[in-house]
Amino acid sequence: MDVRQYVDDNAAEFFGALSQWLTIPSISADPARHGDVRRSADWLAAHLRETGFPVVETWETGTTAAPGLPAVFAHWPAASLAAPVVLVYGHHDVQPVEPLAEWESPPFEPARRDGQLLARGASDDKGQVLFHALGTRAALAAAGADAPPVTLKLLIEGEEESGSPNFAGLLREQAGRLACDVVVISDTTMWSADVPSMCVGMRGLVEAEIHLRGPERDLHSGSFGGAVPNPLHVLADLLSGLHDDSGRVTLPGFYDSVLPLARAERELIARLPFDQKAWLADAGNSGAPAGEAGYSTLERVWTRPTAEVNGMWGGHTGPGGKTIIPAQAHAKLSFRLVARQEPAKVVAALQQYVRDAAPPGIEAAVTSSGHGVRPAFSPVDSVAVQAGRRAMQRAFGTEVLFTREGGSGPEADLAEILGAPLVFVAVGLDSDRIHAPNEKADMALLLKGAQAAAYLWDELAAAGAELTADR
Ligand code: BES
Ligand code: MN
Ligand code: MN
Repeated sequence: MDVRQYVDDNAAEFFGALSQWLTIPSISADPARHGDVRRSADWLAAHLRETGFPVVETWETGTTAAPGLPAVFAHWPAASLAAPVVLVYGHHDVQPVEPLAEWESPPFEPARRDGQLLARGASDDKGQVLFHALGTRAALAAAGADAPPVTLKLLIEGEEESGSPNFAGLLREQAGRLACDVVVISDTTMWSADVPSMCVGMRGLVEAEIHLRGPERDLHSGSFGGAVPNPLHVLADLLSGLHDDSGRVTLPGFYDSVLPLARAERELIARLPFDQKAWLADAGNSGAPAGEAGYSTLERVWTRPTAEVNGMWGGHTGPGGKTIIPAQAHAKLSFRLVARQEPAKVVAALQQYVRDAAPPGIEAAVTSSGHGVRPAFSPVDSVAVQAGRRAMQRAFGTEVLFTREGGSGPEADLAEILGAPLVFVAVGLDSDRIHAPNEKADMALLLKGAQAAAYLWDELAAAGAELTADR
C-alpha cells in the first residue's frame, strides 16, 4: 500500500471526521464559546488517540488567576532514540463568524460544494491540523510499521486567534517534553492550487488602541463649536499623520531594525507568476493596489511593515444628526512587523507619537493588550526546509517554490524557545476566505497535505544526523 493509495482510500472517513470537528464553534475570542474551545480540544485528543498516538494530553494554559484555553499535546516515539524529533504546530481555535448574514451556509454546519469544504476553521486551521493524523497513518501503512520513522510530537494551541497570550509561557514550562530537532508549521498558504509553494517567513504583529478625551461631556456644537478641541478631529489628524505621502510609516525609529530588501530576494519574488487582477479579486475585489512607494504588491505584503487602522469610533453614529462636539474619540490599530522589529518598541513609538501630537485640551492614552508576536523566518537552504520541499514535491509531483506570508502567529517563539528550525508545510490558499464569511478549504489540497506529511517523516528521518547534530 503506498501513501497516496492509503490517503485516497481513507479520504471519506477523513472528511467525515473533519466535518464533525468543524461543528464545534471553538471561537477563542468569545468568552461565551470557551466551553466549545474545550470541547474542541477534547475532540482532537480523542481523534489522536484513535489515530494511534500512545500519549495524548490536553494542557491547561495561563494561571489560576487568569486561566487560558487548552492546547493538545500528542507524542508518538520512533523506534530509535536517534531518530529526529519533530514537533507539529497548529491551532484548534477559530475566528468569530460575523457578519452571519453573509454566510451561504451556516459557519458550523460544514457543507461541500465543487470540491470545497465550507465552514469556519476548514482552512484556518482545523483542516490543516487534521491532515497530519491521516498523513501519519498513511506513513505507517506504507512502511508496514507500527511506529513513525521520526519521533512525532503535536502541539495544537487553543488561543492562536486571540494572539497566543499564554503560548510562550506554555513553551517555557513544557520545554522538556517539547524538546525537538525541527518544528513543522501547518497554518499558512501556498502560491495557488497548481503552483505549490512553501512559506519561509511570516510577519510579526502588534495591536494598540488610541483613546482621546476632550470636554468631560458631549457639548452643543453651536454654543461651543469652533472654540474647543474636538477629539474626533484630533484623532483624524493623528491617524492621517501615521503615513507620509509615499506611504511610509512616520513613527520615530519604526524602520530602524527593518533590513533593506536583498537583491536576490527581490529577484526571487519577481519570478513568481503574479497576476494583479486575480490578486485584487482575492482581495475582496479591491479596486486598485495601494501602499508604500517603491515596492511591488508581493514585496509590500511579505517584506514590508505596516500600520493599519482597524476601527474608529466616537460621537454620534446613530440615525439622524446630532450637533455635538464629542467628548471622546477612539481607534484600534495593528502593525505588521518584519526583520528585527520588536512589538514592544513599536507600541512605545506610538505612545511617543501620540503624546507629542496631542494638542492642549486633549488627554491621550495609548493601550496595548497582549504582547504581540515577532516576525519568523526559516532559511531556504536549511536541512529542514529542503526536506520539507522534497516531501511537498513528492506529494504534488512538481517543483515547489518559496513564498512568504503577510500573516502572523507565535512561530518566532517556537523557534527561539525550543531552539529548533521552522519548516512550513501547509496547503491553504489566499482564496480560502480565512477570517471572513464562507471560509473554505480545497478538499484535494487537504489530501495532498496528508501525503506531504507522510513523506515528510521519511525525508526528515533520512536527513537524520544533520538534524540532530546540535542536541
Ligand atoms: N493562519 C493565520 C496566519 C496567516 C494569515 C497565514 C494569512 C497565512 C495567511 C493565523 O491563524 C492568523 O490569523 N494570525 C493572526 C494573528 C494572531 C496574532 C491573531 C493574523 O495574522 O492576523
Ligand atoms: Mn491560523
Ligand atoms: Mn487565523
